[in-house]
Amino acid sequence: MRGIRGRIVGTYLVITLLSVIVFEVILIYGLIEFYYSSIEAELNRSAQSIINNYNQYLNNYDLSKDAKVLLESTPGNTVAQVQIIDDKGILLADSIEPSMEGEKLDYYDINMALSGKQAIWRGKISLTGEPIFSVSWPMTLSDSDKVIGVVRVITTLSDVKEILKNHIIILVTLGVGIVFMIFLTGLALTNTIISPVKEMTSAAKAMAQGRFDVRVSKRFDDEIGELGDTLNYMAQEVSNHQKMKNDFIASISHELRTPLTSIMGWIITINSEDIDDKEELKEGLDIIERESKRLAALVEELLDFSKFDAGVITLKKDTVNLEKLLKYIKRQMEPRAERKGITITIDIDEELPWIDADENRLKQVFINIIDNSFKFTQKGGYVDIIGRKRGDSVLVRIEDTGCGIPKEDILKVTQRFFKGNNVVSGSGLGLAICDEIIKLHNGEMNIESTVGKGTAVDIVLPVQLEI
Ligand SMILES: Nc1ncnc2c1ncn2[C@@H]1O[C@H](COP(=O)(O)OP(=O)(O)OP(=O)(O)O)[C@@H](O)[C@H]1O
Ligand SMILES: [Mg+2]
Repeated sequence: MRGIRGRIVGTYLVITLLSVIVFEVILIYGLIEFYYSSIEAELNRSAQSIINNYNQYLNNYDLSKDAKVLLESTPGNTVAQVQIIDDKGILLADSIEPSMEGEKLDYYDINMALSGKQAIWRGKISLTGEPIFSVSWPMTLSDSDKVIGVVRVITTLSDVKEILKNHIIILVTLGVGIVFMIFLTGLALTNTIISPVKEMTSAAKAMAQGRFDVRVSKRFDDEIGELGDTLNYMAQEVSNHQKMKNDFIASISHELRTPLTSIMGWIITINSEDIDDKEELKEGLDIIERESKRLAALVEELLDFSKFDAGVITLKKDTVNLEKLLKYIKRQMEPRAERKGITITIDIDEELPWIDADENRLKQVFINIIDNSFKFTQKGGYVDIIGRKRGDSVLVRIEDTGCGIPKEDILKVTQRFFKGNNVVSGSGLGLAICDEIIKLHNGEMNIESTVGKGTAVDIVLPVQLEI
């Protein structure tokens, strides 16, 4: 097991294994303690009652004679074996094995009792190997500390050991069961993490190979589910982007084809026939010149766009005297207005603040918009340039009395390659570029228009620009 599964399941296993072991060791130890101490208490009680009997009735008599009597007078409530031993360690009486009487016994507890201290002993009988538990109490004369013999009570541990063994088996089985359960739970838990992650990995691989139609299914509403959503979102964005790029290329090709076709047509005409007609030759060359200019302008605009998209357009920020700039543009446009029979006026607030901006880019914006006004306004119409102060920003409005833009087109005119059904429409890039430049200035561009009445383009620019 590797990876997340190995880590989670491994950690779980180690922790439960350790806890189970510690818990069971304590439990088993306590169990043994409990059994042994209750046995010890039982043996001590028996020894105590024999000693009591002895003190009450038989003290000061000859122990070697009275040992049997003492045994018999002991209430038969104990299942244990009772031995009476004299002060030299010789077995005087035995409740279960009288055949051993007269033999010298050498056990730790007896020796301790002979020296005056009651003692317990746990061990095996050397002959049979049977595990036993014995308690020895010293018997003393009532008026002195002199030990005259020992009472020893013995019980076999075989039964208890059997019971303990059963308990331990149950506990260990339970422990193994718990560890196994935790193991299974850990596996199930990690599966809920790993299988969606695996699915996402294969989806991401498919996406890396360009298949952006692949989607990840959401199983849980958690961090992993969110990651899946993000992946899906990314795929959607990338395919949108791809579609946009394809549309863009299709539009460009279309834009390039028209002027190229007419240039080529004229070149072939001029090249193949002997054109005597100077007029016709001049017309052809004029068209070639115009169309070439159009192509050059288009390529220029496309270059601008690729720079906007790559984010490499940076504004050359400067303090711009907007009033001077607008007046300069007006003067520059006047000859064209005259030719077209359009009146161009300018109305600027006094003390219009200087603003932070890129002067050349702003000039590009205003000329683009005024160029539109000229293109879409008939002879005898008006174009007004208005400049106003608006708190922390300035408003520049370019108004015309032209043909206007249909309502349904107003939102579209800032899209790339959008152009209305007008013979004078160009490539449809002008307003899209204006929009990008105004956004770079943290400004806003709004268009109001009524068909047949005219159009007003509002540009709001902040006085101070943080870039
Ligand atoms: N002042 C206006 N009056 C009427 N229609 C306008 C005006 N300005 C823009 N439009 C409409 O919006 C369209 C898009 O304008 P935009 O400036 O983006 O492109 P264009 O002028 O057609 O081409 P380009 O500016 O690239 O030469 C125009 O084709 C026209 O239909
Ligand atoms: Mg234009």
